[in-house]
Parts: sequence; C-alpha cells; structure tokens
Amino acid sequence: MLLKIFANLIVFLSITHTCLAGVLQGKVAIVTGGAQGIGEAIAEKFASEGASVVIADINTNLGEMVAKRISETGRSCIFVQCDVSDENDIKALVEKTNDSFGSPDIIVNNAAIAIYKKMEEFSPLEWDKVINVNLRSIYLLARECIPMMIKRGEGNIISIASVHTRTTSTSNNPYVATKGAISALTRAMALEGAPHNIRVNCISPGAIATPMLLENWGDVDPSAHPLLSRIPLKRFGNPTEIASVALFLASDGASYITGSELLVDGGLSAHFD
Ligand SMILES: NC(=O)c1ccc[n+]([C@@H]2O[C@H](COP(=O)([O-])OP(=O)(O)OC[C@H]3O[C@@H](n4cnc5c(N)ncnc54)[C@H](O)[C@@H]3O)[C@@H](O)[C@H]2O)c1
Repeated sequence: MLLKIFANLIVFLSITHTCLAGVLQGKVAIVTGGAQGIGEAIAEKFASEGASVVIADINTNLGEMVAKRISETGRSCIFVQCDVSDENDIKALVEKTNDSFGSPDIIVNNAAIAIYKKMEEFSPLEWDKVINVNLRSIYLLARECIPMMIKRGEGNIISIASVHTRTTSTSNNPYVATKGAISALTRAMALEGAPHNIRVNCISPGAIATPMLLENWGDVDPSAHPLLSRIPLKRFGNPTEIASVALFLASDGASYITGSELLVDGGLSAHFD
C-alpha cells in the first residue's frame, strides 16, 4: 500500500514538474532580431517555457536589456551582438550558443529590415542589403546549424515571413521579394529536413504593432490608420500573438507540421473587396 502511494506520488511530481517546466524545457533556441518587437516577444515566450534563449541582434543596448530582463526572472537568456547578414557573425553566434548552452534545437529567423522606395530608386547596395538581412541570413544560419541538427536527429526552424506573401503594397519591393522567397524556401528546406526529423515552417504576420510598423507609419495615429478598416478583426496584432504561434510550431504539439506557412493576420489576406 505504502509503495503504491509512493509510486503515485512520483508520477504526480513528474507530471507537475513537466507542466511547470514548460514545453521547451531543455531546448536551446536562437532568436534573431530578438531585441525588440516580435523577436523580443518570442524570446520571452520561449524562455518562459523553459528554453535557453540566445538573442542575436545588431542593437546591443536593447538586446542586452531584454536578455537581462529575462535572466532576472530566473530563465536562461544571453545576448549576442550579431549582424545576421554577416557570415563571420553567424559563425561566432553559433559558437557562442554552443559554448553557453549546447547546439541549437530551434532557430527563429526573425530579423528583417525594410527600405521604402520605388523600384527604380533603389541603389544596388540598398537592394542587396534588404535581401541579405532578410533572406541570405536564413541560409547562413541554416548552414551552420543543420549539420548539428542532423547529428542529433531533430531540429526546428521557424522563419517570420509576412502577409506580403499573399497581398501587398507598393514601394517595398525587395522586402516583399524576400518574404515571398521565405515562403518558398520554407517548403524546400522542409523537404530536405524531413528525413532528419527537422521541421521547417514560417509564420506570416499581418499588421503587428511593433517599432518596425510604427516607424514606417511616421506621424500617422495607428488608431486612425486606413489599414484598420481592411482588417476583418478590426485591430492590429500584438507581438505576443505571433510569439504564441511560434511556440506552438516549436513544440511537440506541431509534430506533424512541416513546410507550412501560418497566416496570423486578423483575416487581412482573406479580404477581397
Ligand atoms: N510588425 C509587423 O507588422 C510585421 C508584419 C509582417 C511581418 N513582420 C516580420 O516580423 C519580423 C519582426 O518584425 P518587427 O516588426 O518586430 O521588426 P522590428 O524592426 O521592430 O525588429 C526587428 C529587429 O531586427 C533587428 N535587426 C535588424 N537588422 C538586423 C541585422 N542585420 N542583424 C541582426 N538583427 C537585425 C533590429 O535591431 C530589431 O531588433 C520581421 O521579419 C518582419 O518582417 C512584421
């Protein structure tokens, strides 16, 4: 009888521990562009679910602040200064991740920039910069991490694309091109990753209230922005609403999802008239 009570207690404690520990307990995640906006929300969410998180960003001040804030809650998080379009920075990022926590289980390709100009006004340098930060970075990071994931027999790659894969606007062409490419690249990488149990997916946010969006709108009051009327849910999204979808994709709850693009846009891309 005593033995049975003891055995039940062990089961109860291990279930409680798993629940409290979080769904990403023991995982190592790199979040690019995690110093603010959507990346910051993803870093916070993953850390709160038990992952050891590496924030990779060019913004050292903000990145260090976010990593410190997360660490102060008792979670594991470090900041690594990294320009994701730079091959050497990416190598150093993965080395630092390995040294600090072990090889990465999860990569979130979130860092991106946009430059707003008409097609013919872009200089080749500006064009390449957007392509390199938004798209080449995914290749550079995958090149370093996929061999480690193959060795371990599992991995998870999530890229942040955009509603621009479905419906778009003018004067943002290289950004739009990278987001369309991310959607296609996600499927291609998923095919290569599947035999090694590496899942590859992307999330396409609609209009999410982040510094990127607000800077782009300049002085326009978001609550009076004309885009609001085109969003069926009649509001902009919050970064946490993208983070919760990223968490789902990173978790075992999404174990049969690969090669997918999840639209998280309040219905914006469903709009026709
Ligand atoms: N906010 C939106 O409405 C929206 C909509 C669709 C898609 N997205 C996508 O979501 C992602 C995050 O967007 P956000 O709105 O949070 O943007 P943001 O500008 O608020 O944050 C982007 C982060 O990336 C970092 N970054 C920029 N260049 C970098 C580089 N070369 N190396 C490393 N880090 C770099 C910035 O310092 C910043 O911390 C992007 O991929 C963006 O395209 C955003």
